[in-house]
Amino acid sequence: MYILAIDTSCDETSVAISHDVTILANIISSQVDLHKAWGGVVPSIAQRAHQENIDAAIQEALKRAQLTLEQIDVFAVTYGPGLAIALEVGVSKAKQLATDYNKPLIAVNHMAGHIYANFAATKNGTAAVTALNFPALALLVSGGHTEMVLLTDDTQRFQIIGATLDDAMGEAYDKVAKMLNLGYPGGPIISELAEQGDPKAYPFPIPMKQSGDLNFSFSGLKTAVLYTIKKIKENDNGRELTKQEIVDIAASFQAAAFQSIVFKLTKAVQQYGIRQVLLGGGVVANTAFRQTVRSAVKPFGATVVYPNIDKLCTDNAAMIAVAAYFQAQQGDYVQDISRLDRDPAATL
Ligand code: KG4
Ligand code: ZN
Repeated sequence: MYILAIDTSCDETSVAISHDVTILANIISSQVDLHKAWGGVVPSIAQRAHQENIDAAIQEALKRAQLTLEQIDVFAVTYGPGLAIALEVGVSKAKQLATDYNKPLIAVNHMAGHIYANFAATKNGTAAVTALNFPALALLVSGGHTEMVLLTDDTQRFQIIGATLDDAMGEAYDKVAKMLNLGYPGGPIISELAEQGDPKAYPFPIPMKQSGDLNFSFSGLKTAVLYTIKKIKENDNGRELTKQEIVDIAASFQAAAFQSIVFKLTKAVQQYGIRQVLLGGGVVANTAFRQTVRSAVKPFGATVVYPNIDKLCTDNAAMIAVAAYFQAQQGDYVQDISRLDRDPAATL
């Protein structure tokens, strides 16, 4: 089954083509440069860029996969969660294609896409995972979400057992980078600087350690970082931070964020007897994060899988094509294409 999938949920215009779960093309047109000046994603700019890029991305994907639109069996699109006016661009394009070519349409939840990115196979046939060991737990850490999702069987019934109460982990990275005037997106910048810093230099609080539940919160940590920066500046006549202070803050922030994830994750692993942890979302591109998670759950006998290339961790349409393949197996097609609408606050 040839699937053409579109994701325009945030600031990447992405179009992918898969043959079942094998990725033939995964075009990602990044808008990072357009949003950089604003220190974050501006929805109206994102929408316009999606509109400008989508047709070229479709053509490029077809060229890469050496297919024509007539050969596509199923169209798939992210309907949510994400930015409403950005999602709209992909949804209307997919509806138009499915109608024009008289093919079925599958509506995919973006977070399900991040889970199924683990099943995406590259052209030589290797995927991070082909079957799950239940009960499994998906830990999704992106710019918009921090969630733990319980999977008990193959039916695509997802149970969210923990989520962030405020900022997502990726968002916290982005905000800390902004406080330090380091640019956007903050994740890759902070994680690289953290490698040179001392994670014990600033003892930031471990968020939500006392909460008793499986939820996360990153706004307190973010505020602690802000106060630390202010204090350094105020105590010293408003001077700029030194390179050493910046890398130490980056390392200390990342260490506190990791510890909060590890604390809740290991709690969930024990509570639900989890055998396999699947990672998904932009923060998973962080090697130190993956290593931290792996060593944290090892003592409990759980294995960790993550998408086998970084491009499948951050936003991309290949993960949407793979999720659509699994939905197709369950006959989960859009019944009335004309009525499909984006849902910016969609939950799993
Ligand atoms: O999944 P994603 O591409 O988009 C959303 O669905 O939100 O995640 C983007 C987030 C951004 O906040 C970015 O700073 C973060 O992922 N990120 C990272 C790294 N690469 C991207 N965070 C930490 N370390 C990284 N290496
Ligand atoms: Zn995402």
